[in-house]
Amino acid sequence: MPVTTAVTSALDHIDLADPQVFTDPGHHRVFRYLRDHAPVHWNPDGTEPGFWSVTRYDDCLAVQKDGVTFSSAGTNTLGAQRWTGDEGSGRMLTHVDGARHTELRQLVNRAFTPRAIGRLEPYVRAVITESFDEALEQGEVDFVDTVALLPVASIAALLGVPKEDWKLLLSLTTAAFGSADQDIQTSPSARASAAMAHAQLLLYCQDLMDQRRLAPRDDIVTRLVEAQRTGKLTEEDAMLFFDLLLLGGNETTRHGAVGALLAFMEYPDQWRRLREDRTLLDPAVTEVLRHVSPSKHVLRRAERDVEMHGRTIKAGQDVAIWHFSANRDGRAFPDPDTFDVGRRSSVPHLALGSGPHYCLGAALATLELRLFLDELCTRVKDAEMIEQPARLASTVISGFKHLRVRLRSA
Ligand code: HEM
Repeated sequence: MPVTTAVTSALDHIDLADPQVFTDPGHHRVFRYLRDHAPVHWNPDGTEPGFWSVTRYDDCLAVQKDGVTFSSAGTNTLGAQRWTGDEGSGRMLTHVDGARHTELRQLVNRAFTPRAIGRLEPYVRAVITESFDEALEQGEVDFVDTVALLPVASIAALLGVPKEDWKLLLSLTTAAFGSADQDIQTSPSARASAAMAHAQLLLYCQDLMDQRRLAPRDDIVTRLVEAQRTGKLTEEDAMLFFDLLLLGGNETTRHGAVGALLAFMEYPDQWRRLREDRTLLDPAVTEVLRHVSPSKHVLRRAERDVEMHGRTIKAGQDVAIWHFSANRDGRAFPDPDTFDVGRRSSVPHLALGSGPHYCLGAALATLELRLFLDELCTRVKDAEMIEQPARLASTVISGFKHLRVRLRSA
């Protein structure tokens, strides 16, 4: 793509912190332009303080791997908290560096190993089967709702949240993550809407921890209670940890599954291919994660001045690492916009991050998506769009508010 001053000056007026930018499918072209012509791009003060964007695969990887130069301790996403302060700063797993990060991760690591997650397989499959039973009986569904309970049920099993509370937690995580979208906000402002949802999640956790103090179980909430007894967490830290696990595990996987159906509708040959050859399930999950990239970006703060592509990122400035752009970078992935379930890439996608903060729930997300794709191929012959899907206005999640489809049984 040639550089033109018209495009460059138009770019100066695009505020990448504005969630509305991502409701327009054209945002992929904007990021392609950035990768080609402004790989380290300064976004001036707009809806929030100015920040740098890195958009190429190699740069995203390098910044994310270097947790010493690029700290997570401030905040880890764009959003209103950059004006008002982030309550997770220096306390939550995602918002700490170095030794404290390792210590916090060790508190829950055991529950997320591939072996521990493998034991959940029959349970997760049963949840998926039930969701498809219901959807196929209805025929016409909003697929965003069809897959909504899959991640919440999975993470609830690890945390120890009872089934009667899944729907409540789902509505709170949706409100917390989707708060930038006016159709999802529960209060007039995004900030108030997110705060309300988080407050309720924290209070819910406090009640559950009180129950576990009286009657411990083999679940993560009991581990968070134990960590308070040994002085590793304050009660508030434990509540924030619970909030993070619920949020981290929910909307990302849900929109991964929604994005997968959309990709298969757009590439029916790939759906047929996977249906006929289930040995492709593992590469298909990898390709769904790369192609959909449910997490759009994460944020870091430079600890010292750094030169990149002739630009100087100054100490104290924030850098957005746009995974979804890295995953569409033709320098790393040949024919990057094509969805190819048999893709064997020589480089790993960045959908689950990289470096010290690599997704804790990677094994769980992968299991959920693999079982989801397997069931989709077994149960659903095809899907027809009833109306154009509406993209979620979010800088954080690549997702949809609705995906109304007519499903036909296989
Ligand atoms: C498709 C689904 C998922 C996607 C795309 C995703 C994406 C990511 C990304 C990009 C990061 C890196 C954050 C950073 O560098 O600041 C991350 C971290 C994390 N994810 Fe996931 N995630 C998914 C599923 C899950 C699930 C199921 C859980 C379960 C609890 C989870 C929990 C976490 C946690 C706790 C972290 C923080 C790790 C740390 O800071 O050390 N994620 N995830």
